[in-house]
Amino acid sequence: MKVSAVFVCLAAILSTGVADAAPLRQRSLVYARNNKVKMMNGQKANSSSSSSAKGAVYFMTNDPKENFIIAADIGSDGKLTLNRAVSSRGRGSHGQTSPNGPDALFSQGSVKASANGKILATVNPGSNTVSVYSINENNPSEISLIGDPVSSEGEFPMSLAINSNGTQVCVLNGGTVNGVNCYKVDKDVGLTAVPNTLRSLGINQTTPATGPAGTASHVIFSEDGKSLIASIKGTPPTPGFLAVWDVNSDGSLSQDFKKVAPASGGLLPFSMTVIPGKNAILATDAGLGFDVFDFSSGNKSSAVPIQGQSATCWSSFSKKTGNFYLTDIGTATVTEVNVDDNLKGSIVKQYPQKAGSATIDNDIASIGNNDFLYVLAPNATQIDVLSLDGAGQAKSIQTLDIAGPAKAAGLSIDPFNLQGMTSFVKSG
Ligand SMILES: *[C@@H]1O[C@H](CO)[C@@H](O)[C@H](O)[C@H]1NC(C)=O
Ligand SMILES: *[C@@H]1O[C@H](CO)[C@@H](O)[C@H](O)[C@H]1NC(C)=O
Ligand SMILES: *[C@@H]1O[C@H](CO)[C@@H](O)[C@H](O)[C@H]1NC(C)=O
Ligand SMILES: *[C@@H]1O[C@H](CO)[C@@H](O)[C@H](O)[C@H]1NC(C)=O
Ligand SMILES: *[C@@H]1O[C@H](CO)[C@@H](O)[C@H](O)[C@H]1NC(C)=O
Repeated sequence: MKVSAVFVCLAAILSTGVADAAPLRQRSLVYARNNKVKMMNGQKANSSSSSSAKGAVYFMTNDPKENFIIAADIGSDGKLTLNRAVSSRGRGSHGQTSPNGPDALFSQGSVKASANGKILATVNPGSNTVSVYSINENNPSEISLIGDPVSSEGEFPMSLAINSNGTQVCVLNGGTVNGVNCYKVDKDVGLTAVPNTLRSLGINQTTPATGPAGTASHVIFSEDGKSLIASIKGTPPTPGFLAVWDVNSDGSLSQDFKKVAPASGGLLPFSMTVIPGKNAILATDAGLGFDVFDFSSGNKSSAVPIQGQSATCWSSFSKKTGNFYLTDIGTATVTEVNVDDNLKGSIVKQYPQKAGSATIDNDIASIGNNDFLYVLAPNATQIDVLSLDGAGQAKSIQTLDIAGPAKAAGLSIDPFNLQGMTSFVKSG
């Protein structure tokens, strides 16, 4: 019996051709891994589906065994429904902190969607890779990996920038081997390295990074797409800085970066949000509140304290209200900030969230004529949803539990590892 089974097997291999047998098996394995999806809340997987959702938000489990992206539908009222978790085929990691807690990567932008590119990218900090997915425009929670995860060419990748047309992705590595590296997005094979974009930061770090002080924070493109900017926190009393590379027309980067210091008082530049039309950036500053970096000849940079803050680290901008929304992990508070025409920053209003929930990554989606703020609160394993009805008029409309639906779907969640928040909205 045994012998004939071997013969049958051999015959099968010979009939398909010995050379083809292994690749066939590999292809089917890749296919199976590519489709590792855990549906949530009774949703059904359907590769040709459309949904009534207006968009989706995405964040990561950042699990050291296997990183999953969790996608939640955005309804017409701005409220969320968890839809699915999709493997990135990479691993998560947690920075070295004392005590251990949420904010595993000390970063903003670990997961990033592009409306123009219809793609979603994620870092895999524990396997030093980057994964890219296509987003189904008709059902934005439905994301499918394109190609294999690619090397970040450094250690502890923790933030991503995507250019405005969604054709180039750059990663910020924050470990012992740190710096940036960029890829073109190929809709068939995924990410392909762009020559002359692997650039070192030269910060003295470990893998995983030790922080939050002295760690890399965030990478973004400038509004005109001509600069790639990384933020680095200081190690008190030494202030941090922004590293600015020129982006050439072929996507390559200048050999060296320009080092830009915050205005006096600035210490720990964290997230960066473009101030529209100003050639300037608002950077949260965990040591103070926020910094305004003015890149125009006006030189109106400033460092603005937020009284009673603990660690203001994440930010986003609302087109509807014209204001910025900053989150503080320690006080679990959303602070609404206005930056006027002369780049003078001021605090509009504060919105306390659940004490101890550790509000971290946030993003804003415009649905119809309304803007909604989505805040990851990992210590409570929840997302806070606020409706931004006007300047100074943010209103809590939902607290979305992640833990219950994840457990029901067999998805393992460590609240201290949860990270990232990015949104995609259907066009039209
Ligand atoms: C998948 O979605 C399409 C379009 O919405 C629908 O016609 C089809 O019945 C769905 N299939 C399953 C198995 O749900
Ligand atoms: C996308 O933008 C880059 C520069 O940022 C440009 O080189 C490229 O041609 C653009 N691609 C498309 C399809 O518009
Ligand atoms: C790097 O940091 C470590 C730990 O703080 C320190 O011991 C070492 O001297 C630093 N190295 C350099 C070159 O600054
Ligand atoms: C900007 O202002 C600071 C003082 O606020 C000054 O030290 C610096 O030289 C100025 N830079 C330029 C380019 O004018
Ligand atoms: C997270 O929750 C733990 C346990 O309740 C608490 O000790 C810790 O202070 C919280 N961390 C933050 C940043 O809120």
